[in-house]
Amino acid sequence: EKGNYRHFMQKEIFEQPTVVAQTLRSYLRPIEQQVALPQLDFDISKINRVTIVACGTSYYAGMVAKYWFEQFARTPVDIDYASEFRYRAPVLEPGGLALFISQSGETADTLAALRHCKAEGQTIAVLVNVPTSSMAREADLLLPTHAGPEIGVASTKAFSCQLAVLAALAAHFAVRKGRMTHDEEAEVVKHLMEAPAALNAALAHDDEMAAMAPLIAPARDVLYIGRGPDFPLALEGALKLKEISYIHAEGYAAGEMKHGPIALIDEAVPVIVLAPSGPLFEKTVSNMQEVRARGGKIVLISDREGLDEAGEGCMAKIEMPRVHPLIAPLVYAVPVQLLAYHVAVSKGTDVDQPRNLAKSVTVE
Ligand code: M6R
Repeated sequence: EKGNYRHFMQKEIFEQPTVVAQTLRSYLRPIEQQVALPQLDFDISKINRVTIVACGTSYYAGMVAKYWFEQFARTPVDIDYASEFRYRAPVLEPGGLALFISQSGETADTLAALRHCKAEGQTIAVLVNVPTSSMAREADLLLPTHAGPEIGVASTKAFSCQLAVLAALAAHFAVRKGRMTHDEEAEVVKHLMEAPAALNAALAHDDEMAAMAPLIAPARDVLYIGRGPDFPLALEGALKLKEISYIHAEGYAAGEMKHGPIALIDEAVPVIVLAPSGPLFEKTVSNMQEVRARGGKIVLISDREGLDEAGEGCMAKIEMPRVHPLIAPLVYAVPVQLLAYHVAVSKGTDVDQPRNLAKSVTVE
């Protein structure tokens, strides 16, 4: 039931602090400052390559995870859309872990890719929100998210819960491979535990997002840019906006702008810049300045420090809490979800049941 909310999507956005905390409870041991995974009947330290396969928003969660697996565990990661993966001739070497990410656990292409990997002898890990789903039944390692039923066609809380589990998984994997010390693991646990409060702080900016929506609603095209683990968030933001507001939107790695997309920039194209303070902040901001110099209207999403440093001349500034870069992708999911939501509401579209879309794509 929707309770006091106008749409399921809105309710699900606001549930994120609770469901992320709920999900983290089964993957973290805060007292021991350790990451905990379900009992494994294979030796995870022997895994030498990870292949991630998913669709849509779940694919973007996988893209973020690639940064974490590489950074923490120094393990090579391939990632592909399930619809592409299943018709390629992917090279799957022995000792590989194939990781399938799906809210529903029923997406036809992802399930077919899973079966292919199984037949090829890969160890199958499944990150799903529906623990009774087809994918869950075929897993060697089942990693459930505890987001509760997600009704809105646009995925929101499942995504942040996927990210929470993926961060824990990447850290656990790194520990078992001897790539992460206990102190580093304790740091990861600490930062993940900070996520629910940071999500709450991000949600507190809902009114500002609602006030900004009318500035975006008339646009024909919207661009989103980000770097590093926040680049997939730019893709996710664009997907959310397309799905429910029917505005054409694209996400780009900020550094790619000058390789083509900057040609699109004029006063009619809002550019949403995802730039948390951290090692990539200055780089993203310099791409943002290039956009601004060409008349682009900037919405800068950053923390207080970032907005103070780079906010001048932006059409809008949205303040996020200052967070560790590890949890920035979870926290920055909130403003992109809220922006899409409020733009769709202001356009009067059917937020929970957008045209042409199904919640679960069980046919090819
Ligand atoms: O259930 P799944 O996670 O496998 O679904 C994958 C996509 O169909 C899904 O994420 C879709 O892109 C959403 N509508 C995005 O909001």
